[in-house]
Amino acid sequence: MRRTINSSANSFIEIDNADALDCYEHWPAPASIIIDGPYGIGGFPGDPTDTVELPKWYAPHIAAWSKAALPYTTLWFWGTELGWSRVNQLLELNGWHYEQAFIWNKGIGHAAGNVNSLTIRRAPVVTEICVRYTRDVLLPNRGGEMLSLQNWLRDEWSLTGLPFSKTNEACGVKNAATRKYFTKDDLWYFPPAETLERIVAFANEFGNSQFAPYFSINGRPFQVETWKLMRAKWNHIHGYTNVWDVPSLHGKERLKDARTGKSIHYNQKPSEIINYLIQTTSDPGDVIWDPFAGLATVAFCCQNLGRDCYCSEINEETFDVASDRIADHSLLFNVG
Ligand SMILES: C[S@@+](CC[C@H](N)C(=O)[O-])C[C@H]1O[C@@H](n2cnc3c(N)ncnc32)[C@H](O)[C@@H]1O
Repeated sequence: MRRTINSSANSFIEIDNADALDCYEHWPAPASIIIDGPYGIGGFPGDPTDTVELPKWYAPHIAAWSKAALPYTTLWFWGTELGWSRVNQLLELNGWHYEQAFIWNKGIGHAAGNVNSLTIRRAPVVTEICVRYTRDVLLPNRGGEMLSLQNWLRDEWSLTGLPFSKTNEACGVKNAATRKYFTKDDLWYFPPAETLERIVAFANEFGNSQFAPYFSINGRPFQVETWKLMRAKWNHIHGYTNVWDVPSLHGKERLKDARTGKSIHYNQKPSEIINYLIQTTSDPGDVIWDPFAGLATVAFCCQNLGRDCYCSEINEETFDVASDRIADHSLLFNVG
């Protein structure tokens, strides 16, 4: 396996010229996984020609992502609407929780040459979809039964022998604790770590001492930092919605073969969007996976944003360009 490593003070990049299935085992656990793989449109060698084949194609990959995921891992899944809809159920069965779908609107410029209404009997397609998933986080109760966080919180508090109304007193609110964090209904909120810390202290002081300490995780008494990592990261960026109005790449960011002037990879994603995926769901120093790297746009963005990136690209020629792009970070265009 050929490998490119690029390490700087604030980011570590590894690209393997390999099938992603041979890489997952040795990559460290990710904060965010960005999947821009087969779309089921025969777009590159190995891409199935029909979206119905995608669940079978992705099944071993999804199993590996799920095995490596942490409670705070986010998964971004790129595709066509139909391709994604075929794979969604498999992701859910593997513990991935649908959060929201984003639409990349490439704009009317992308319709050029695609509008002969006599031969093409449909509206021009100028979009791709990118769907955000988080983990279904489960914790064991005292009997070893795996519970959702919502049920686990209720289960632990029940052991204290105290009424649920006391959770409000514990964190100094009128009814927010029972209404939001200890509710049984669908409108449950993840308690902020500092709020839960107060509830835990109260439970340990006034609850039935037989079961203290309460709200321990992995055998360790409650810690604010551990609790913060029990859900996916979301660093909101103002000004962005779930529609990205970003033209497809034409300018200097598009990597082109200097001899032919042609684009090297038609699926190269704009760094503006990839930056958004990385920044909203990870922090500096975190690990990002990009199993289907193409021209390694994700790694390229990680270098700027101070994240570590592990990626693989199966095609040798594409890998070579991606490697150059990462090794010579100033390389923006015209390779060859
Ligand atoms: C949609 S492109 C990714 C484009 C990339 N996001 C970019 O901005 O350049 C998907 C890439 O996955 C690669 N690929 C397909 N199957 C693979 C596999 N099993 N392991 C690693 N790479 C694979 C293809 O060769 C292709 O370059």
